[in-house]
Amino acid sequence: MDIERIQLQQHGDNRGMLIALEKDRNVPFEIRRVYYLFATKCDVHRGMHAHRNLNQLAVTVRGSVTFLLDDGSGPCEVVLNDPSQGLLLRRMVWREMYDFTEDCVLMVLADQLYDPADYITDYALFLHEVGHAYQGDMAACQ
Ligand code: TYD
Repeated sequence: MDIERIQLQQHGDNRGMLIALEKDRNVPFEIRRVYYLFATKCDVHRGMHAHRNLNQLAVTVRGSVTFLLDDGSGPCEVVLNDPSQGLLLRRMVWREMYDFTEDCVLMVLADQLYDPADYITDYALFLHEVGHAYQGDMAACQ
């Protein structure tokens, strides 16, 4: 699957760094919700779901986390460890997150309010809804 990273412009000077996230300028959707994960235990797997109608942008403000992403064509691993890189998580992509560093702060911008009914938490149901049947090893990530 195509991995969509967004390079975020850093405004740096001798005081430090600043990054702004703005609808349509560097975030390709209307931002309706922001949440962040922190103090995640290092042996924890989170996510393990897809969304039917939700687009998100993930940024590690601090630390590092590994994403497993799958659009139905097979799993693909992405390490997110740079506050100037956004990872686009489009609708109907299965995602899992693991290998959180102790200091990781993972911020997520979303184009919809929280809606438990939007979640697909069963991988077989996800494959059924997305219309693919995965058979193979870790896919090449582009
Ligand atoms: P959960 O969906 O388990 O997180 P993850 O998929 O990252 O493992 O969410 C944990 C709890 O937080 C759960 O009780 C639902 C709640 N929650 C909200 O209230 N609002 C939100 O925007 C999100 C993402 C979760």
